[in-house]
Amino acid sequence: MKNLEMPNTSINIFDLEAVAKTKLTTLAYDYYSSGACDEKTLLANMSAFQDIWLRPRMLVDVSNRDMSTTVFGKKVSAPILIAPAAFQGLAHLDGELATARAAEKFGTTMILSTLSNHSIEEVREAAAGNLWFQLYVYKDKGVTKSLIERAESSGYTALVLTVDSPLLGRRERDVRNKFNLPAGLVCKNFIGNYLEQLPGDSAESGLAAYISSLYDTSLSWKDLAWFKSITKLPVLVKGILRADDARRAIEYGADGIIVSNHGGRQLDTTIPTIHALPEVVEAVDERVEVYMDGGIRRGTDILKAIALGARAVLIGRPMLWGLAVAGQSGVLTVLDMLKSEFDLAMALSGCPTIADITTDLIDKKYRR
Ligand SMILES: Cc1cc2nc3c(=O)[nH]c(=O)nc-3n(C[C@H](O)[C@H](O)[C@H](O)COP(=O)(O)O)c2cc1C
Repeated sequence: MKNLEMPNTSINIFDLEAVAKTKLTTLAYDYYSSGACDEKTLLANMSAFQDIWLRPRMLVDVSNRDMSTTVFGKKVSAPILIAPAAFQGLAHLDGELATARAAEKFGTTMILSTLSNHSIEEVREAAAGNLWFQLYVYKDKGVTKSLIERAESSGYTALVLTVDSPLLGRRERDVRNKFNLPAGLVCKNFIGNYLEQLPGDSAESGLAAYISSLYDTSLSWKDLAWFKSITKLPVLVKGILRADDARRAIEYGADGIIVSNHGGRQLDTTIPTIHALPEVVEAVDERVEVYMDGGIRRGTDILKAIALGARAVLIGRPMLWGLAVAGQSGVLTVLDMLKSEFDLAMALSGCPTIADITTDLIDKKYRR
């Protein structure tokens, strides 16, 4: 069925970003689109995919194709998950509620950010699909523990511990805009403990000021063992880029790993994630599931990530562009666009199922 809310000139993610830009305030567009410092990693995440060449297989019967797979035992219609992204209320009034509804319709998992504008409970009530909760760790252990308990008791099925953000990366566009949330938008998970507002008087980014005063910069591997001891949920560690860290994560109890550089928003000039993926996959050696995000804009990007060992990919900014353009149906359009590009990439590379997407599809230069 034709989606009447979507501009029919938008046929790919880049078109949608251009439309989203016209709908968002400069403050919101800059917050969503920017990376740290010179934005080298932001761009490299995308260009690294373009530099990897495929070796498609010919004369394979691809008349029946199946893109479905499982993530921690839950079926997803395609290996495309929704990355945690803060402040979705800047894109659309329904914010995370709309995203959760689109994820359910599409048949995938959404990861809710700690810094969501709608609360853990509201998002859980909005849609019946599979949800994971992303955790930022506050200095106040009571605050952190209560977030975990709320996610668990609301029915979230996994925790995603983000480990690349003891402080906020230097996002210069946010510094220039003195980023803050417009009146009426708060971090609803913190209503009641006075942590729901970003400081209004910051001379630079209000988010950077919030994080530097509240997040636990002493977080280390032993804390992972603590998280594991206080929850029954599987814990994934998000932000791993090296084999030794991947091994250590498993040693301290991680149930899954997300190879990520936060979409180039933290340490600039960090290695593009598709380059980090093979060494992490090799170190993990199938002991836990490995996911990746950063720069996924095309179906072929998904194919390459799966071929190099990712269980599934996460999408960040593309989902936000869809949300800004048309709320729930915009997010669904983004997911559908990527899924149909991925379907075509599978067909043209001789892969009727996910299991057929093997490393030999990738030019030797980029494999381990
Ligand atoms: C606007 C925005 C907000 C984000 N907020 C969070 C967050 O709250 N927690 C987190 O772990 N990652 C956050 N991320 C990082 C994403 O989860 C993901 O790693 C990244 O967006 C992937 O790159 P992509 O945007 O190129 O798909 C955010 C990313 C963006 C663009």
